[in-house]
Amino acid sequence: AQDPLVIFTPSGKRGRVPAGTPVLDAARQLGVDLDSVCGGRGKCSKCQVAPGYGQFSKHGVTVAPDALSAWNEVEARYDRIRGLKEGRRLGCQAQILKDVVIDVPAESQVHKQVVRKRAEVRDIVLSPTLSLAYVEVAEPDMHHPSSDLDRLLGALKAQLDLETLEIDRHLLPGLQKVLRKGNWAVTAAIHDDDTPTIVALWPDFFEGPLYGVAVDLGSTTIAGHLVNLVTGEVLASSGLMNPQIRFGEDLMSRVSYAMMNEGGADEMTRVVREGVDRLIGELVAEAGIDGDSLLDLSFVMNPVMHHLFLGLDPYELGQAPFALAVGSAQRMMARELALSVAPGARAYVLPLIAGHVGADAAAVALSEAPHRSDDLVLVVDVGTNAEILLGDTQGVMACSSPTGPAFEGAQISSGQRAAPGAIERVEIDPETKEPRFKVIGCDLWSTEEGFTEAVAQTGITGICGSGIIEVVAEMRMAGIVDAGGLIGSAEAVGTPRCIPEGRTHSYLLWEDPDGRKITVTNGDVRAIQMAKAALYAGARLLMDKRGVDTVDRVVLAGAFGAHISPKHAMVLGMIPDCPLEKVTSAGNAAGTGARIALLNREARREVEGLVRGIEKIETAVEPRFQEHFVAATAMPNAADPFPLLRA
Ligand code: FES
Repeated sequence: AQDPLVIFTPSGKRGRVPAGTPVLDAARQLGVDLDSVCGGRGKCSKCQVAPGYGQFSKHGVTVAPDALSAWNEVEARYDRIRGLKEGRRLGCQAQILKDVVIDVPAESQVHKQVVRKRAEVRDIVLSPTLSLAYVEVAEPDMHHPSSDLDRLLGALKAQLDLETLEIDRHLLPGLQKVLRKGNWAVTAAIHDDDTPTIVALWPDFFEGPLYGVAVDLGSTTIAGHLVNLVTGEVLASSGLMNPQIRFGEDLMSRVSYAMMNEGGADEMTRVVREGVDRLIGELVAEAGIDGDSLLDLSFVMNPVMHHLFLGLDPYELGQAPFALAVGSAQRMMARELALSVAPGARAYVLPLIAGHVGADAAAVALSEAPHRSDDLVLVVDVGTNAEILLGDTQGVMACSSPTGPAFEGAQISSGQRAAPGAIERVEIDPETKEPRFKVIGCDLWSTEEGFTEAVAQTGITGICGSGIIEVVAEMRMAGIVDAGGLIGSAEAVGTPRCIPEGRTHSYLLWEDPDGRKITVTNGDVRAIQMAKAALYAGARLLMDKRGVDTVDRVVLAGAFGAHISPKHAMVLGMIPDCPLEKVTSAGNAAGTGARIALLNREARREVEGLVRGIEKIETAVEPRFQEHFVAATAMPNAADPFPLLRA
């Protein structure tokens, strides 16, 4: 008789195996993704499958109720102690006797797909660098002398079919105890990014899960997500101010602090590492997990933060030719970064693209994947520096553009960070020139009933970055400011809200009963013009290099990008003309990229290859950049037609 046929769903993989083959072995032979932590000992239940019985006309098979062997002792014991779900079998115990269709539920797959969050363009498939393996180790035997370590490594290599396996030295002093405490059974956490290595050990069976943290280390804030490496789920997210701020708000002032002060760079290294350490501590506490199972970390950051965090001198980044000390991806022990995590915890630092284009941009490239896009996509990550990517499957280019901090509300007379009380949305009636706005933390428009009471708590404290872009764009559309960026007088514009201020005018957005005013000055408009011209010039330069006049779509990335209204960005001429529905915001794409690198080890190779292949354009040495910049200061701008906007 023929061997029984086994068909696995959802993969559809099928083949014949000798009667009596355990489902797990059949899965291995046919290349089906079925998990196993305990090596088939009936302990972990990661191998659970759901056999189907009856007729499967699609597959042309009928499955008899006795297609799989009856429960054996191990399976019965597992069910007694921990309970097997109705209809489930342990794949390592159940043997295939006749033709059968077997479903592998998502939780039993190693490479399961993480549920995609809104605004994420790509799926994250789980393929973490860390896995658990339960193993039984031979007891010492006087007749066959061998060390505990040799027997442990030998058993794991055999079970996992590994040629090489190493162990972290910090585990050696405790090895004897762990083995004996577990009665010669242990669970090992194995990190496999370059060389498979045991990074943690638990006596007997340890169920897990293991955790990781993805860190987006920005010059202003440090944000982190604590993730379950088995499910991909984010268990805690937190952020704190980068404590380096006290050495300078912007990066260049920190570089000069390092230059001017003996030991200044070391001090900033220590401080930022402490900040990251505190953040990790907060995340572990918030998620309520055991810190010993937090074993992997990924980091993205701009070049200056990168150098300071790794303890490299940032001096060269402050001057041409902006040479990086180290740009490639780094793999290291997290303890080397002075983080108080488990001794075996690993850190992965994404590669930098160039002296001005950091690992944050590399992470954006990984998550937005321009290199996989058939249409030409422009990705802008707006911050103090705008990092700009342009590309498609044929190639990707990158540059950074010195937009300055205006988009973050700095250098704006009423500017502030995005926080409760900040004006974030603005509309101006083109007829009456009267404004209405929304502040962060309140759902009502300023003209709606109950607004005053609703904002009593926070007050109206200033205008944040997205608010300033909207108000300037709205002023332009309402004719309050002209294409050159000049605010008109009350008579010229026809509203008493235009108030004289020195030799120019300001637009009065809000005045509270105590006479405290929030205005947009001509200087504010100027600052926004400079910032948006720099951003536009950078994008335009990449388009020149690529030899195109238009792009197919635009992605606004970054915390700030997530809040910019595409319409207003286009009215200002921040981004090239493009159909509005083709302008999307990607949210915190750098943070997503860090999470992808944490959850998928192939993505690490992908981003490393991608970065090597990116064509780097240095705006500082391109004369065309200056030309584009000057032409782009007008609103929208004088250099290029904006036909789609006008339409
Ligand atoms: Fe662990 Fe089956 S592989 S219970």
